[in-house]
This record gives sequence, C-alpha cells and structure tokens, in this order.
Amino acid sequence: MNQGVNNQMNQEKNKLNVLVIHGPNLNMLGKREPEIYGRTTLDEINASLEKLGKRLGLAVETFQSNHEGAIVDKIQKAIVKQKGLIINPAAYTHTSIAIRDALLLLDIPVIEIHISNIYKRESFRHKSVISDVATAQIAGFGIQGYPMALEALAKMIQNR
Ligand code: DQA
Repeated sequence: MNQGVNNQMNQEKNKLNVLVIHGPNLNMLGKREPEIYGRTTLDEINASLEKLGKRLGLAVETFQSNHEGAIVDKIQKAIVKQKGLIINPAAYTHTSIAIRDALLLLDIPVIEIHISNIYKRESFRHKSVISDVATAQIAGFGIQGYPMALEALAKMIQNR
C-alpha cells in the first residue's frame, strides 16, 4: 500500500468519534414550522457537521429517530466508542426520563441543543429533564447552534 493511502487511513483511525442525535420531528426540518426552525434541512445540517468535524479531527456520526426507545438504544451504544455527544432531544426534552437515565450511563461530554430558545416559548417547553445531566446547553441560536456545539465539544474532549 502506498504511503499516502496509509497515512490517510491512520488519520481516519486516529479521529475521535462523536455522535449527534436528533430527536422526533427533526427529520422534517426545512418544512416544519420554518418561522421557528428555519428552512435548512436535517441532511444539510448533518453534512455541514461532518465537514466541520473533519477540520476539527472528529469523525461525526449522525442519527435521527422519532422513537424514544431507539434513541435510548443509540445512547447505550455510545458508551463503547463515542468521545462526545450532541443531542437535540426535541419534544422528549420535556418528558423523557428514559433518555435522561440513558445519558447518565455516559462518561463523556454531552451538549444538549435546541434550535429555538425554549425559555421564550410555551411554558411546557421551559422545563428540560435533560439539562442537569448534560455538560452544557445551547438554545436559541437557530441552526448555527450546531457548529457552535461541535466546536465546543472538540475543546471539551481535548481538555479532558
Ligand atoms: C426543539 C424545542 C422543543 O421544544 C421542540 O419540541 C422541538 C425542537 C428545538 O430544537 O428548538 O422539537 O428541541
């Protein structure tokens, strides 16, 4: 195998794995309440995170589900290989003790993110059952919050 290909493979191997989880209805970004969530699609967000991840030396895996149990399963699997997690639990933010309990299994930095400022919206969105088990929370920056979260996560991983 030539040296260039070898170096590239080693760089890939040395990348730190991070996971981005998108909760229910976020697959509809672009179409869903654009006045709140904007017109960018989830695929576009994921592609830009993967690209930014490359610059930061992170291998970004993305996952979306509308199902609470599937999100719990994914978080449990993150124990083995992920060095950091960004999660927008969407509506489960306000209700899911199961997702909260799963996050407590992790010993890695976890950033909770919301596109909208949940504290400026209906009162049932003011309570997050996730925020006190997350390392940090980002809310209200629109989709710009995602690259902000990834940059912050890269620094948190470096500083560990
Ligand atoms: C959200 C806010 C939640 O209240 C809502 O249920 C979502 C998206 C956000 O990104 O602003 O689905 O998490």
